[in-house]
Amino acid sequence: MNKRFYITTAIDYVNGEPHLGHAYEKVIADVIARARRSLGEEVFYLTGTDEHGQKVQQAAAAEGKDPQAYCDELAARFQALTRVLNLSNDEFIRTTQPRHKRVVTALLNLLHARGELYKAPYRGWYSWKEETFLTERDRRPDGTFDPAWGEVREIVEENWYFRMSRYQHWLVEYLEKNPDFVQPDYRRNEVLGFLRSEALEDLCISRPRARLSWGIPLPFDPDYVNYVWFDALTNYYSLPVALGDAEAARPLGEFYRAEAPPTEAPLRLWPADIHVIGKDIVKFHAVYWPIMLRAAGIPLPRQVLVHGWWQKDGAKMSKTTGNVVDPFAVVADWGADAFRYYVVRELDIGPDGNWTDAGFKARYQAELANGLGNLVNRSLAMLRRYRAGRVPARSGELAAEAGQTAAQLADHWRQNRLQAGLIAIWNLVARANQYVDQTAPFKLAKDPAQAARLDEVLYTLAETCRVLAVMLWPYLPQTAERIFQQLGLTGSPARLSEAAWGGLPPGHTVGEPQPLFPRRD
Ligand code: MSP
Repeated sequence: MNKRFYITTAIDYVNGEPHLGHAYEKVIADVIARARRSLGEEVFYLTGTDEHGQKVQQAAAAEGKDPQAYCDELAARFQALTRVLNLSNDEFIRTTQPRHKRVVTALLNLLHARGELYKAPYRGWYSWKEETFLTERDRRPDGTFDPAWGEVREIVEENWYFRMSRYQHWLVEYLEKNPDFVQPDYRRNEVLGFLRSEALEDLCISRPRARLSWGIPLPFDPDYVNYVWFDALTNYYSLPVALGDAEAARPLGEFYRAEAPPTEAPLRLWPADIHVIGKDIVKFHAVYWPIMLRAAGIPLPRQVLVHGWWQKDGAKMSKTTGNVVDPFAVVADWGADAFRYYVVRELDIGPDGNWTDAGFKARYQAELANGLGNLVNRSLAMLRRYRAGRVPARSGELAAEAGQTAAQLADHWRQNRLQAGLIAIWNLVARANQYVDQTAPFKLAKDPAQAARLDEVLYTLAETCRVLAVMLWPYLPQTAERIFQQLGLTGSPARLSEAAWGGLPPGHTVGEPQPLFPRRD
């Protein structure tokens, strides 16, 4: 059984409605997942929701709701988002599901048995809002804490600790030897810089139940629940185990027993190939998570891929000021593919981005409506007008350029260069539009002596549209399928190998062109 290419996203807190940041991350992971499928790999794409902890308990309380009922409502919104964005995720994990909790419990038991956990008293300044102890470094020059921390009080508690500090040296070496583990490079350097200059402390992995009840109980000390980040990070691993990846489960040994034998064919997923996350949670994924796995004897994921943050109109998105981009509204208005196109084209994976409605509309109009939409529309319209929609004999004036684009794309996709891939595709779109202007088929059509030349041009254009659909599929799956439909093709644009020139059979009759991206003035 082959291991699948396993890609995950951060799991979102269910303490509010999904916004642009959540949607962006899920879209880039989806494009990577689909691109790998297009390249012929077997892929498994996981996303989900992070439902325990203080933030969620407080959000539920603020609405006077039972936490589980509150989580159910919001998780449904995040699940709706996966459908609205046309994500190809194979599963959706929720950390309140029993299948997840069983694995977290087993992992805690294993680390406990291996002597990686200990109980100790701790006195410190605690931020109730952020659910974290603050250190002296968090104090402002006047000795107070930033009001952003909310209420801060000194408390003493016994808690359970994970012996993280003993792995500091190992992690530095690991990061040095595995430059791909955290990407882009500047994020990896940040992690290394931090690990080389500061002593790693042991990680508090419990919260007293008296203070926080909304969590997974520690199996060896039921007065405590598990720290939400320990619980949440484990989702990437719990899902494969729950789905019956026996090799993934092996390190858990006697501590894990599957509830029921897997009903479907077992999968090989772990280790993950890519964890897609935002820049604010790098430390959890590039420090805590690899150490947790290492301490448990579980293989490490291959890569943590870190994206930047979106602003709206140059300012932080914030519910209180109403400065948010609602992905549901954008998709309802413009379609999922327009949303997917804008976010991937506008922002490379890594730097921060800025959403403006004007920028969105400008790209829609110039690149989708006038660029791609117009090319497909006029190519099909001319073929119907001059040849009754019948595909002429093969010819390949743009074959070499299309072939180069396909080769570049494969390379970009393997390196997660999604934006560069789109740019390469649009170079081909522009080239084909220029080809229409240069060959002027409307003039050729007036001269019967040019019939063979017109055939060449019409074939080249229709075939370019077919090839473009194949190239676009990971980015704009609905558009790719619509282009295939309009070409009257029954196959699927989901394999890059189908981009090989000449796939459109002579004699085939194409369908009716319909605007892919209607102009909106
Ligand atoms: N629940 C944790 C993640 C646990 S992963 C084991 C969490 N949730 S979150 O809802 O706050 O954020 C989820 C993801 O959305 C994170 O990767 C975060 O970086 C990303 N984004 C949240 N706001 C964002 C923007 N404004 N722009 C881009 N991504 C942003 O953190």
